[in-house]
Amino acid sequence: MSFSRWVGAATLASTLLLAQQASAQSAPSIPGYTYGQHSLAKAPYTLQDLKSLEKTLLFTDEDVRYLRMSKPILADQTDAILDVWYGFVASTPELVVYFKNNKTGEPDAAYLGAVRKRFAQWILDTADANYDQTWLDYQYEIGRRHTTPKKNQTDKADSTPSVNFRYLPALTIPVTTTLKPFLAKKGASPEDVEKMHDAWVKAVLMQSILWSYPYVRDGRF
Ligand code: HEM
Repeated sequence: MSFSRWVGAATLASTLLLAQQASAQSAPSIPGYTYGQHSLAKAPYTLQDLKSLEKTLLFTDEDVRYLRMSKPILADQTDAILDVWYGFVASTPELVVYFKNNKTGEPDAAYLGAVRKRFAQWILDTADANYDQTWLDYQYEIGRRHTTPKKNQTDKADSTPSVNFRYLPALTIPVTTTLKPFLAKKGASPEDVEKMHDAWVKAVLMQSILWSYPYVRDGRF
């Protein structure tokens, strides 16, 4: 290998290493975010089950491409997006009750704040999900965190034991409807915004279905 090609290859290798370190460093600094950790339980559904679910949702490689396209658009807007989503939850008594502190009866600001950081990471994770076993295992974990006995444990909150199932898939609509203006903010064509939005609807619905496992009777998921 010539010297200049060797330098080029070495630079590429160190750039890739730095990029890897950057993403590996950003994630564990979020308290309670355990994506990819060995302590996580294996999901009770398989990668083949996921493929079948994708087929039923008409979720294709094109949707994956549009989710990828959305990542740089959304990356510096996660705070503003979360303001809107949290605004919706805070102004909906049926939902905010799941963040209330059992002692005061009021919304628990520390709990809301801790979850918000992982929610911001989830936006990026959804945009570049690779749908492997690690991703699947974290879906199972997120489902468990919405239900008893795992809810509240991560943030040591004293709150309601479980989010009622019916609201999980329902929240797909406000989450994705309010995302659309953010997708349109960086100059993408109206067709691309539409396709990114469609991909997000499918991706969020798919995840809320995977998160539903703890709610469904044995053998019926
Ligand atoms: C499409 C539907 C939903 C999405 C996309 C979503 C997203 C998320 C995410 C990303 C987290 C943090 C996961 C982590 O710990 O890494 C979370 C946790 C949480 N979500 Fe949801 N969620 C949905 C439905 C709901 C609904 C309907 C409620 C009711 C208010 C709710 C209440 C909560 C609570 C209380 C936590 C904290 C759970 C814990 O104690 O660890 N979520 N959600």
